Amino acid sequence: PNVTEQGSLVTVRHPSGSSCEIDKLGATVTSWRVQDRERLFVSRKAVRDGTKPIRGGIPLVFPQFGQGPLMPGQHGFARKLYWTYTGVARDDPTEVLVAFELKDSDATRSSGWAHAFKLTYVVTLGADTLGTHLAVTNTDKTPFKFTPLLHTYFATPDITEVRVHDLKSLNYTDKVREAQAYYEDRDAVTFDAEVDRIYHGAPNIIHLDVDPRTTILIKKNNLRDVVVWNPWADKAQEMADFADEEYKSMFCVEAGTVHEAVSLQPSQTWEAGQQLIIK
Ligand code: BG6
Repeated sequence: PNVTEQGSLVTVRHPSGSSCEIDKLGATVTSWRVQDRERLFVSRKAVRDGTKPIRGGIPLVFPQFGQGPLMPGQHGFARKLYWTYTGVARDDPTEVLVAFELKDSDATRSSGWAHAFKLTYVVTLGADTLGTHLAVTNTDKTPFKFTPLLHTYFATPDITEVRVHDLKSLNYTDKVREAQAYYEDRDAVTFDAEVDRIYHGAPNIIHLDVDPRTTILIKKNNLRDVVVWNPWADKAQEMADFADEEYKSMFCVEAGTVHEAVSLQPSQTWEAGQQLIIK
């Protein structure tokens, strides 16, 4: 079979040899292998027992990005809860699709974001592509707001060689400096210190050079902004679930709508996602 389920892990294999793994904890994609190379970063100190969100892969941020006005805590509850695996949505020679679901529960209703909702998350594996697609349905009687984001951790052999293209001429908020708007004038964003920026209204295709010979494309759909993050040495030391030197082998480029929240009316569904493509 192309899809196996063991404990909290769902593993998907594609006839081409690519594979991915999704942990029901957060519906976090924790591995994506193409041409025998792991493309996502997961910390060797990541906690996998449900007491914390998983440090790496693609945690799904919902309903609140960062520490914001919508609810208390950081990055919402979706990454901390066990989702329901609803099965293989399609399995054909080109793509394998698996789906996950999360609905409001006692845990979400007592989180400080008390709305009734349904999330459907579809992970699509191709020969050299990985899609992650989220649908949010408002099952409540009143409208609600959220700032969703796909917090993708990419693996790199050398952070100093990473180039994040296509962000030139955008305004960004810099969480390392003051939370005001700055202007990006570089052809590529590079890393030689802590980076924590929200690029507003980013283009739908972002090219990432993860090393001088490997480019990954992010094709985002209905997600307005892009967050670029690397904790660098000092912040790395402050994170219990991240090894001190690991900032040298990862970076996050996160597609989301976070600068301004999405508003959703009762019984409406909002859909968005991304496709990662190895070039
Ligand atoms: C990024 C934020 O998206 O996530 C950073 O912009 C934050 O400010 C990082 O440090 C990691 O967050 P967490 O909650 O997983 O440690």
